[in-house]
Amino acid sequence: MMVLARLSTVVLATSLLVAAAAGCDDRPFQELEQRKAAVAKAAVSAAAAKAAPAVALDPTDLKPFSPLPKEFPSEANPITEAKVTLGQLLYHDKRLSLAQDISCNSCHDVARYGVDGEKTSPGHKGHRGDRNSPTVYNAGHHVAQFWDGRAATFEDQAKGPILNPGEMAMPDEKAVLAVVESIPEYVTLFKKAFPSDKKAISYDNLAKAIGAFERKLVTPSRWDRFLEGDAKALTEKEKQGFAVFTKTGCPGCHAGPAVGGGSFQKLGLIKPYPDLKDVGRFNVTKEEDDRFKFRVPSLRNVDKTGPYFHDGSIATLEEAVKKMAWHQLGKELSATEIDLVLAFLKSLTGELPAELVKVPELPASTAKTPKPKT
Ligand code: HEC
Ligand code: HEC
Repeated sequence: MMVLARLSTVVLATSLLVAAAAGCDDRPFQELEQRKAAVAKAAVSAAAAKAAPAVALDPTDLKPFSPLPKEFPSEANPITEAKVTLGQLLYHDKRLSLAQDISCNSCHDVARYGVDGEKTSPGHKGHRGDRNSPTVYNAGHHVAQFWDGRAATFEDQAKGPILNPGEMAMPDEKAVLAVVESIPEYVTLFKKAFPSDKKAISYDNLAKAIGAFERKLVTPSRWDRFLEGDAKALTEKEKQGFAVFTKTGCPGCHAGPAVGGGSFQKLGLIKPYPDLKDVGRFNVTKEEDDRFKFRVPSLRNVDKTGPYFHDGSIATLEEAVKKMAWHQLGKELSATEIDLVLAFLKSLTGELPAELVKVPELPASTAKTPKPKT
């Protein structure tokens, strides 16, 4: 016990040093802290689970998991109330698209668990891309953004869709800033959000405000209460479902606070996946090893975020679970096992943050505000 405790102190100290030396993201450190807490708490909930006779979970099975943080902090973009307020408005503002008919929220509806329920989403002039819109909730934890991980952070990511010809289709950054600059309330809000910047309105700052808003999009569920030691937070059926989820091998890829999001993995790892048109991560790295690899999605709220997979080709959660067991692990689950896994996955449906789900009243246009174009 002593040795173990000392060992983890060393590991902790080392990761602290690494984080400090890298001078950047403090995520590894926080993650370790979180995990430590979870492990300690897992012991407690395991003891509690033993008291409830039906399902006694093995505490080691809970080790790969931890509760969601309250928000996803960033050293490069510290979260402030002023940024979040501004970001929430920009997230909903259709005037940031060429035809002024699409906002971030059109494809990632915060009131619908961050998705639009479409296989692929209609963008400018109804154009649809090849990929399904992933949820923006709990995505702050992801190793990288997009199915192929081509953006490192929310702040990098947010700059893309506004200028993407198939999405919001703005011709260039200048055109986007012209909209914002024409609206006096935005001018004031940018100054408030970025008080030390000489030029508060910039494309970078616009992305930072949206990023700060997204960093607050967290949906804790009964699963978090369970990990925090409340053994009654899950039903017996859900606990059995977790046991099947673990026994089948799902946590090998779907673990951590977001139950996924932590790595890139090949779709069809054990049994080849048919009809793969999208080469996934290979597009970004050009490494043969990355062909057909996708960023593992988080399973938080997964019952609400269908259709599934990078191309939205899988209509139901049941089908997604069956396909995962077969193609990723080479296992065929019985109808009972699938039913149990589904029960567990549904316990990951969390509470939406009421304040952030509200559609805000947008600041009014002026005579100078550019008109919609087609
Ligand atoms: C027309 C629909 C559409 C619009 C508008 C749109 N997105 Fe997306 N978004 C997508 C699709 C599709 C993907 C996945 C693309 C890929 O992986 O190649 C995506 C990916 C993302 C991701 C990555 C999530 C993850 O888990 O990897 C984030 C974050 C995101 N969008 C935020 C935004 C923000 C912020 C805006 C507004 C500035 C926005 N999106 C506008 C469709 C849209
Ligand atoms: C070897 C890694 C790996 C294992 C093991 C694995 N998955 Fe996945 N999972 C992935 C990847 C990668 C994707 C994304 C595939 C895609 O989009 O094409 C995914 C997607 C999913 C999805 C769809 C989520 C969405 O938003 O589209 C569900 C549900 C899912 N997995 C559940 C499971 C379950 C249940 C198990 C165990 C039976 C499991 N996974 C095992 C890597 C894995």
